[in-house]
Amino acid sequence: MPRNSRRGCGACPAGTEKPRAFPFANPAPLSPSLIAAMALSFFIKNKKAVLNRCRDDYATKMRLKYAPYYLVMESQKDTTVRLGGRDMIMLSSNDYLGLSFHPKVIEAANAATRKWGTSTNGARSSNGSRAFHVELEDKLAAFLGKEACHIHAAGYLSVMTTVATFAQKGDVILADKNLHSCLWDGIRLSLATVERFSHNSPDDLREVLSASNLDAAKLLVVEGVYSMEGHIARLPELTDIGEEYGCFTILDDAHGFGVLGRQGRGTTEHFGLNDKVDLICGSLSKSLASTGGYVAGSREVIEYLRTNSKQTIFSAAISAGQTAAAMAALEIMQAEPQHLERLWANTKKYKTMLRGLGLDIWDSETPAVPIVLGSKERVYPFWKALLDKGVFTVMSIAPAVPAGKDLIRTAISAMHTEEQLEKIAEAMAFALKKL
Ligand SMILES: Cc1ncc(COP(=O)(O)O)c(C=O)c1O
Repeated sequence: MPRNSRRGCGACPAGTEKPRAFPFANPAPLSPSLIAAMALSFFIKNKKAVLNRCRDDYATKMRLKYAPYYLVMESQKDTTVRLGGRDMIMLSSNDYLGLSFHPKVIEAANAATRKWGTSTNGARSSNGSRAFHVELEDKLAAFLGKEACHIHAAGYLSVMTTVATFAQKGDVILADKNLHSCLWDGIRLSLATVERFSHNSPDDLREVLSASNLDAAKLLVVEGVYSMEGHIARLPELTDIGEEYGCFTILDDAHGFGVLGRQGRGTTEHFGLNDKVDLICGSLSKSLASTGGYVAGSREVIEYLRTNSKQTIFSAAISAGQTAAAMAALEIMQAEPQHLERLWANTKKYKTMLRGLGLDIWDSETPAVPIVLGSKERVYPFWKALLDKGVFTVMSIAPAVPAGKDLIRTAISAMHTEEQLEKIAEAMAFALKKL
């Protein structure tokens, strides 16, 4: 083909284009090792972008500078932990009923581990269920007044998959603005449209619902007890409105289970409206003194979960030790009501003391008690002063909590002693002076 017959670039007459600024316009053949080196440098650049992101992350830098999280305890007994060679009162654990050191719970976990080994080493869809899985599921379902239950190796997994499995693209999820991160993750995975309503506000739920797509399938997602605020969901009003609009209702009762209701069955027992909630999910790591999670509902709904939940099908089942610990705790809860009574007596005493000091506990109604200080500049010295006085708590700062609600999260256990409550009171008074 004659040179000047080449098709032009449009701007230049044919045959007059400038050579393109491309270093290999007339390339000599490249050696394989040069190509490999070029590809490597390209990928190293990409990898460096991720490494730099980690290195430059402000939140990580601040966490490492002030070191308030991931502190390494040397030992623990009941509500006392040993940190840096000092005994401290644990005031941020969710061991509400104080059963994680109960001799029967420990023995049950040990015996199950001896019998079944330490791990299930795979998912139940491929390795099969074990008798202990089915036993705990049956007991939990009966306790919660539901037909069926499925347990997972983490509460986060149970709760996340509950939303992710039952909602799908095209559906509308009505979500309280203050939901836990595992619920937001489930919402995101589901690809459904999310409509948020103001925290615990039936009025706003109604308003949002009335403006939403009436034809879409709808799911109402709430927590029974909000873990940061300690608020109890206004379940009667919320479920009434949900029912009016045909919502499928999901309740994460991680912090209500074992705490609310005459027998600790949770938020639905507290209000006596079990039938208004389609699915109750939650954690075994709080009142049930173990780790793991559960989802309870009608049989057809739980069987749908077993068929469709990726987090259920492709994740290893909960171990025998974890399951047995939760099962023993569940039996103790029912046989020994004194733990629940003591939890509430301790909670009352603790809150009276905090209010007496003029601290803002965000109208907490439960043993999950925030101390709202309003900014991270106030939270850190308060937290540090408590630590210096031998009280271990956790800071929660925006965006983990709404702006202006930066707080110290505390939780009371049935296991806290009178002496510990007095020491906590002294530490709070001391910390207050540091503000
Ligand atoms: C409300 C709520 N749901 C679910 C979870 C997850 O439970 P787990 O920690 O057992 O994974 C938590 C954990 O703190 C929680 O607070």
